[in-house]
Amino acid sequence: MQLTTQRLILRPLEANDKHAILSYRSDAETNRYQGWIPKTLDDVEIFLGKLATEFNVPDTWFQLAVVDKSSKELIGDIGIHFIDEQQVELGYTIAKQHQGLGFATEAALAVIDYLFTELKKHRITASIDPENIASVALLEKLGFRKEAHFVESLFLNDKWVDDVIYALLAREWRNRQLI
Ligand SMILES: CC(C)(COP(=O)(O)OP(=O)(O)OC[C@H]1O[C@@H](n2cnc3c(N)ncnc32)[C@H](O)[C@@H]1OP(=O)(O)O)[C@@H](O)C(=O)NCCC(=O)NCCS
Repeated sequence: MQLTTQRLILRPLEANDKHAILSYRSDAETNRYQGWIPKTLDDVEIFLGKLATEFNVPDTWFQLAVVDKSSKELIGDIGIHFIDEQQVELGYTIAKQHQGLGFATEAALAVIDYLFTELKKHRITASIDPENIASVALLEKLGFRKEAHFVESLFLNDKWVDDVIYALLAREWRNRQLI
């Protein structure tokens, strides 16, 4: 499984990525809206060990590395939760020093297009904290609709937080205005 965009290569995360993952995922401030913030290489190894090794298997998470084509640097990851045969949930992280440059948009567009066009998925969702304004901006730019707002429904990093669900249907994707 590999996707290529203008500036990026998206390929499965590998054991060798663990140092880079620890470096951008352990930043607790940047990742304050995330459920998983590793503190040690062991934490990353356990995380990598739990990931699906096969793409598109219901009830598993598959994690793609977001790699800068020119520098070959791992600059983030995109998590794909295959909820069932037809529905998928996305999660995404871009390293702090590479944020604000359109990389999440570029990577997510390629993944969404692949999921709808090649794998014929019906619906893609995302679950985010409404205070995560970068994530809200990203999803709305990609054409996701806000479907639900659960109040203090998740206990994350020692506090109760809201959870907002965004979704995008295959037919909405086909009819979208090109970004
Ligand atoms: C959310 C995240 C992946 C966005 O990555 P990114 O590569 O910076 O996003 P992009 O550069 O593609 O920007 C996408 C849109 O979000 C906007 N945006 C990005 N960062 C923003 C910020 N801090 N504040 C407001 N808007 C922001 C951009 O302006 C852009 O919209 P525009 O083109 O209309 O201007 C990144 O901020 C991140 O990794 N955050 C930490 C991890 C996280 O919270 N992940 C989501 C968990 S659900």
